[in-house]
Amino acid sequence: MAHVTAVPVIVILSFFQCKTLFSTSLASGQHKVTDALGLHNVLWITKHDSRIILSWNNNLTKEETEKHTVKYILSYRFFNTTQERKERLQEKKKIIHLELHSGFNAKVKTQLFAKETGEIIKESDWTEFTYKAPPVYIQNLSCIIYNISFFNCTWHIKAEAPEDIQIFSSYKHVGKVFECQQYIKNAKKKNIGCHMKEIYFQPSRKIKLNITARNLRNNSRQLSYYKAFTPQTIEKLNPPINVSFSLENRSIKIHWKPPPTIGSASNKCFLYQVKITDLKIVNVTEQNYKYPFHKPAKRCTAQVRAKKEICIRNKIWSEWSEPVFIHNEKTVDVLLLSLTLFCLLMFLGGLLMHACKRYRCLEFISMPVPRPSANIKTWLADETHHQMEMYSEVTAGIPEENRDGAIQQQKCLKDSGLEDL
Ligand SMILES: *[C@@H]1O[C@H](CO)[C@@H](O)[C@H](O)[C@H]1NC(C)=O
Ligand SMILES: *[C@@H]1O[C@H](CO)[C@@H](O)[C@H](O)[C@H]1NC(C)=O
Ligand SMILES: *[C@@H]1O[C@H](CO)[C@@H](O)[C@H](O)[C@H]1NC(C)=O
Ligand SMILES: *[C@@H]1O[C@H](CO)[C@@H](O)[C@H](O)[C@H]1NC(C)=O
Ligand SMILES: *[C@@H]1O[C@H](CO)[C@@H](O)[C@H](O)[C@H]1NC(C)=O
Ligand SMILES: *[C@@H]1O[C@H](CO)[C@@H](O)[C@H](O)[C@H]1NC(C)=O
Ligand SMILES: *[C@@H]1O[C@H](CO)[C@@H](O)[C@H](O)[C@H]1NC(C)=O
Ligand SMILES: *[C@@H]1O[C@H](CO)[C@@H](O)[C@H](O)[C@H]1NC(C)=O
Ligand SMILES: *[C@@H]1O[C@H](CO)[C@@H](O)[C@H](O)[C@H]1NC(C)=O
Ligand SMILES: *[C@@H]1O[C@H](CO)[C@@H](O)[C@H](O)[C@H]1NC(C)=O
Repeated sequence: MAHVTAVPVIVILSFFQCKTLFSTSLASGQHKVTDALGLHNVLWITKHDSRIILSWNNNLTKEETEKHTVKYILSYRFFNTTQERKERLQEKKKIIHLELHSGFNAKVKTQLFAKETGEIIKESDWTEFTYKAPPVYIQNLSCIIYNISFFNCTWHIKAEAPEDIQIFSSYKHVGKVFECQQYIKNAKKKNIGCHMKEIYFQPSRKIKLNITARNLRNNSRQLSYYKAFTPQTIEKLNPPINVSFSLENRSIKIHWKPPPTIGSASNKCFLYQVKITDLKIVNVTEQNYKYPFHKPAKRCTAQVRAKKEICIRNKIWSEWSEPVFIHNEKTVDVLLLSLTLFCLLMFLGGLLMHACKRYRCLEFISMPVPRPSANIKTWLADETHHQMEMYSEVTAGIPEENRDGAIQQQKCLKDSGLEDL
């Protein structure tokens, strides 16, 4: 009991101690954590094609720099976005990829740490910097790699873009520049996308897209925007291949093979979804899915789609595979066989009955008349009655047989068909 209570007491005490130490160090003034006056940062940028290099400096004395560890806290946010990116850096620069952003707000502060203890000694105030980029005329840029070697990129031209601009695109991959093969145009003949095929992608190397807005009136006026993609993250796989099924015990097993891919083809990279007719879609990581079939209402189809999930994050699902109709080949055979048998039986039965009746009829006719004096009218009535009976039996026989057949067919479907699985 005493042991148990001792622990929190120690924790509280040490916390208290810590707190007092901290406040005394603040109060002493000598090691004041926030000392904006002693430190000052200067920020500037240098522009390169696809990136902005944000650099800064401090006005620490040489002594201070040697005596202490200097670190910087950089915080920046692109215009019109909410995400604040914060980093602690030791170097005095940061490469910022602007992509399609029209600028950013950044701030930096310097922190001085004691080399031995790692304790913070001084900290500057934030120094802010705003970078406003040249106008960005495009938005909603998205690229996709599909069917292994096809590459599509699309973008929207902003409403504020000048009338005279045209958009061109190219990309750099593994050190080579490739021009767009075929532009996708809008009604105003502006390029709003690019379609390329027979491209070889090295999955680990980035695709550096260059979208250039050029003023058609003045060719020297152009603005380029850049965005880099890792091929695997924008790959839309083909549907899984060789989708088939087998019937096992009381379940259906659907199996398939992963589609080809530009990246890792390791089995553990793929995530699949299986859709059986109108049933809920299920996620599967194996290359097969066993569905315990109970009582499906109708004939059903199975479809599978794939994407990469485990090795690399990718949001794009493949198309669904062509539907595979699930049916039991044996069932079809059994159905046909039973139908044939049934028809044969009916036919034979009918024949037998007919023969029998005819025989009896003959017997009846050839039967010696017990009383020759008997009323001929009765005999005649009997005969007509019998004839009528025969007639009605024959006419009723055909539709009845058909109806029975239909019922039997349904029963076959039910009994030996899917219901049985
Ligand atoms: C750094 O700059 C600030 C503000 O300009 C100044 O007050 C401070 O004395 C400077 N420190 C050194 C070490 O030069
Ligand atoms: C984006 O941010 C800039 C700078 O903060 C601002 O001038 C502009 O109006 C914003 N645009 C939109 C669409 O919010
Ligand atoms: C295009 O991008 C803008 C801003 O970047 C967004 O507001 C808009 O919803 C996007 N439009 C489409 C169709 O994605
Ligand atoms: C997919 O690529 C193959 C080989 O490059 C090609 O033969 C086929 O037509 C392509 N399929 C589609 C839908 O473009
Ligand atoms: C790619 O672009 C071509 C040409 O516009 C189009 O036919 C094709 O459907 C697009 N494919 C994808 C997956 O977006
Ligand atoms: C981007 O494309 C434009 C137009 O083709 C070109 O002038 C510019 O140099 C390219 N940028 C890079 C970094 O290659
Ligand atoms: C074309 O653009 C360049 C650079 O922006 C500019 O110096 C030049 O005056 C322009 N020429 C015409 C004819 O507008
Ligand atoms: C898919 O099926 C085809 C034809 O049935 C066969 O040639 C091919 O080898 C199969 N592919 C795989 C990966 O099993
Ligand atoms: C069918 O079920 C039996 C018993 O549950 C089991 O022993 C057998 O391995 C199963 N067969 C297949 C092909 O799954
Ligand atoms: C299936 O996987 C997708 C993608 O990871 C996920 O969004 C979805 O919630 C999963 N569905 C189920 C039923 O687990």
